[in-house]
Amino acid sequence: MNVLLSLFLHILSFSLTVSGRPATFLQDFRVTWAESHTRQIDGGRAIQLILDQNSGCGFASKSKYLFGRVSMKIKLIPGDSAGTVTAFYLNSDTNTVRDELDFEFLGNRSGQPYTVQTNIYAHGKGDREQRVNLWFDPAAAFHTYSILWNHHHIVFYVDEVPIRVYKNNEAKNIPFPKFQPMGVFSTLWEADNWATRGGLEKIDWSKAPFYAYYKDFDIEGCPVPGPTNCAANPGNWWEGSGYQALNALEARRYRWVRINHMIYDYCTDKSRYPVPPPECFAGI
Ligand SMILES: *[C@@H]1O[C@H](CO)[C@@H](O)[C@H](O)[C@H]1NC(C)=O
Repeated sequence: MNVLLSLFLHILSFSLTVSGRPATFLQDFRVTWAESHTRQIDGGRAIQLILDQNSGCGFASKSKYLFGRVSMKIKLIPGDSAGTVTAFYLNSDTNTVRDELDFEFLGNRSGQPYTVQTNIYAHGKGDREQRVNLWFDPAAAFHTYSILWNHHHIVFYVDEVPIRVYKNNEAKNIPFPKFQPMGVFSTLWEADNWATRGGLEKIDWSKAPFYAYYKDFDIEGCPVPGPTNCAANPGNWWEGSGYQALNALEARRYRWVRINHMIYDYCTDKSRYPVPPPECFAGI
């Protein structure tokens, strides 16, 4: 076959199976909660979420995806954000057997560190919270938050730093999300009954409205419905050898986060789990 033609077919098949960075918010997403509290900015390339006493708000991807990597740049609420939660998560939207991968940014009083809570639901079971205090001010600038999800593991990244790894340990009978596609969601809401210092710090509504910003949406994955066998294709870049385990640099950064910035791990919470769940011993 003519080289150019085969190159063209290759590019065509790539663009059919893998979705990439959209130019605008509306290409991949829609507002799912309180349109009045969202605003597209920068020609639709970014979105502002607004929380006030009337409402929070949220958006979701139009498609669901099976495996891939999702990332966004987010700038969180500055100043006194206590009692607010800004979330970015993947969810299968299937009630009883829900799979879900959560980033939840828990606001704080001015000058106190933001906490990132992550959680993982596999086959309907969650309760796997971990918390990390961010080592920078996430309201001063945009930072990249990503979730990598392939057949080998799930990794949560803050910029280039892995803050959480959940390995596929199905061989040890530990559930791993892999049958259900998940949508991409974001919400900004009030949760002052639990979010900041366990609910002790309430929202100061005199500081409202609160604003969070999202941009550079990037979903690379297999849309479902979509091309058959996309998700099982070992040729997808996110399944490649460089993505099947942390590399040495990532492993070093991951250790650094866990030693210096992790403030809670369900695996070591003896009051909740006198016997820690099996995945806590399965290694990464
Ligand atoms: C808020 O700041 C306090 C004091 O530094 C800290 O203990 C807490 O982990 C921070 N985050 C939340 C969500 O409460």
